[in-house]
Formats: sequence, structure tokens, C-alpha cells
Amino acid sequence: MRDVSIGIDIGTTAVTTAVVERMADGTIAVRGIGRAPSAGLRRGMIVDVDATAQSIRRSVLEASKASGATIRAAVVGIGGTHLGSFTTRGAVAVTRTDGEITEQDATRALAAAEGFISKNPNREIVHVIPREFRVDGQGGVMDPVGLVGMKLEVEALVIDGARPALQNIVKACELAGIEVRDWVANVVAASSVLLNDQQRELGAMLLDLGAGTTDFAIFEEGRLLDAGVIPIGGTHITADIAIGLRTNIAAAEQIKLRYASALPDPRATRRDTIALGDFVRGDSSVFAVRDLVDIIGARLTDVFELATKAMKRVGRAGLLPGGIVLVGGAASIPAIQELARRELRLPVETATELSIEGMPLDAPTEFAVSIGLALWEGRGLRFAPRHANRFGSIWEGIKRVLRTFVP
Ligand SMILES: Nc1ncnc2c1ncn2[C@@H]1O[C@H](COP(=O)(O)OP(=O)(O)OP(=O)(O)O)[C@@H](O)[C@H]1O
Ligand SMILES: [Mg+2]
Repeated sequence: MRDVSIGIDIGTTAVTTAVVERMADGTIAVRGIGRAPSAGLRRGMIVDVDATAQSIRRSVLEASKASGATIRAAVVGIGGTHLGSFTTRGAVAVTRTDGEITEQDATRALAAAEGFISKNPNREIVHVIPREFRVDGQGGVMDPVGLVGMKLEVEALVIDGARPALQNIVKACELAGIEVRDWVANVVAASSVLLNDQQRELGAMLLDLGAGTTDFAIFEEGRLLDAGVIPIGGTHITADIAIGLRTNIAAAEQIKLRYASALPDPRATRRDTIALGDFVRGDSSVFAVRDLVDIIGARLTDVFELATKAMKRVGRAGLLPGGIVLVGGAASIPAIQELARRELRLPVETATELSIEGMPLDAPTEFAVSIGLALWEGRGLRFAPRHANRFGSIWEGIKRVLRTFVP
């Protein structure tokens, strides 16, 4: 039987589906991708479940045709400004009498850390990711299995989300005929195929500039220090242009795609103009390209300020020698690297290819999230406590509610 896994990225502009296959020799191949315009989302959050389910269905159908695979279940990405993160800690006594730490001890320590999280009925845990283990007080341990000690402690990063937002994702997938195998924060999935080991080791930040939001993940010494969502994306830039140039959203989007730049072109003059009549029939207004660039630069500067704040929160502002990696639709704005370098005071590059453990994957970076999600299956997080019935129970809950309302 073929070892195929599926990832679905429910984005604000598009739902993308990736089908990846693990070959017997250990290589990985992207077998098919699907992309359908998304409906029913705002800022990465579902506001119309039926419309989103329709988009998922289309995207999955396309990926299924392209790959020849039947798609009934998938790993699904989580985005949106409802995602949050915080730190938790847990400790256990090592079980074996000879003191050798086992995989189970690590899992128990993580479960203990999860147990310390105060219960909130409106929030649901997405990840509990170990940042560091301590063996008898000795810190800096990434993999404690096989070490000898009496007490095992763990510090972990918790990523959680609003329960209704997560329920809507599961519901939209179920309506589209897809069972949710697991869920993963979009940016965590993307970073697994966009950052290389060296960047993760030295310290680096991934910034995914999407339509509704900009997602970030910060790594150092191979660990995920923090991940989160900045509530600004490409649609905000478009809205700013519409207001600044007093035009409609559709025209503003076209103007952005044609003339956008993060910084003024040094060769440009005040005489370089945009005639709105090219985009809106009968509109005779003319604007300087410089003004458009100022509008875009201002919004992007806001994004980079919030990215700096995120780095400060973990004490790493300007201290990530692996640099910043940009990806996402809005990362194709010309001169964005220069602006980012200036604002973030770090080396900046735009992701151009996907790879996993040095193995290049043949697909455009716009599929980074869906491919990262697909590769998550069967790999996931080491030591992660299992939540076998989590998705089932959420769906049961929804069905119960539906039953109450549907005669
Ligand atoms: N060449 C370009 N110049 C400027 N902006 C662009 C360009 N290409 C795409 N964009 C913008 O990128 C955004 C779409 O990016 P992307 O496809 O990464 O979003 P998404 O994944 O659907 O959204 P999200 O991740 O926020 O849910 C849109 O706002 C679009 O206008
Ligand atoms: Mg996206």
C-alpha cells in the first residue's frame, strides 16, 4: 500500500491541499496539489462554515485528481488571531530503578506540564511543545531519553486557540467529507519545510505574510521559542490603498499587484503616476506612485514592529543570526527584504524552495503550509501526549448541539 498523507491549509484567499508520498527508500514526493479560492473566512477565521466547506471540497477534489489518491482524512492547519501561546512546566520522578530515562518518562513529564495549564472552557490546546528538559536540575537537554537521573522536568510552549474557531474548522472539514486526523498551527507546519536545521539552530524567525494575518515562528538551538499571529495581512494593505486612493477594493488590489513596493524606487520621480482610469472606468484621478509606496511601507512597518515585539517577548530582538525568512503572498512585494532588514535589524531572505531535512521538494512555496501539514502525519511531535478522541469529541459536541436545533 502507498504511504500517502494529506495536508489542508484553510487560508483567507485560498484553500490548498497537498498529497505527499513517503517512498520505501525514505524519500518524499509531492504527488498532487489543489488550490481553490476560499470563501467564508475573515482574518484566517471561519465565519461561514458552509462556504468554507465548499472551498475545501473543491481544493481536495483538485488534489485528488492530480494525485490519483482518495482523500478521506487530513492534517488540518490552524491560523487566525485567536491563537495564543504561553509557557508551562511539569516534573516527574524517573520510573526505572536504574534511573535511565525512558520515552514514557518524557511523555509523562509533558502530560504533567499540560496538567498544570488552568482549564478554560473557551480555549483548546493545539500544541504542547517541549522547549527544554532538565535532569536533576541540569538544564539545556533537548532529548532526555537514555540519560540517567532521578527527577525529570520539562518547560514547554503551549499554543492554544479559541474553542469555537477550532470547532468550526473541524465542522467545515467534516461537512466537506474530510476527517481531521490532527491539527497543527499553520506556521509550525510551514517552518518544518521552510527553515533549515542551521537556521533553527542559530536562531531564526519565519514570517508568513498572508492575506488576513502574518504568522511568525521563532527558533533557537533547534527549539521553537514562540509562535503566533500578527493581525495584519495583505488585505489590510489593499484596504489602506482603497482609502488612500479613494477607490474600490477590487481596483486597490489590482493597483497593489501592479505597482506595489515596500520602499520608493530611487530612480523614480514625483512624475511617476498611477491613472485610476486604468482600473476604474470613468475615474480621472491620478496619484503619485510615491504616495502608494508610502501607504504600503507604513503598513509593512507596522507588521515588522509587531514582529520585533514578538522577538522581544522571548528576549531575542536583533539576536537571531539565522535571520528572518519571509514567505506568503505579501512577501512578493518588491523591496520588502530591504524594508524588513532595516526594521528588524537582521539578515532577511525570501523563501524560494521547500525542503525537509535537506531534501528538496518540488512545489512552490505557496504550498509550504499544506505540505508541512501533510508531512506532520506520522511524525508529529516527539513525546506529545496523545489525545485520541479530541476531534471525535468536538464533532460529537457539535452534532449534539445541531440535534438540539434541528427537528
Ligand atoms: N505580487 C504581489 N504583490 C503584493 N501583494 C501580493 C502579491 N501576490 C499576492 N499578494 C497578496 O498576498 C495575499 C495572499 O497571500 P497568501 O496566499 O499567502 O494568503 P492566505 O494564505 O490565503 O491568507 P492567510 O494565511 O492570511 O489566511 C493577498 O493579500 C494578496 O493581495
Ligand atoms: Mg496562509
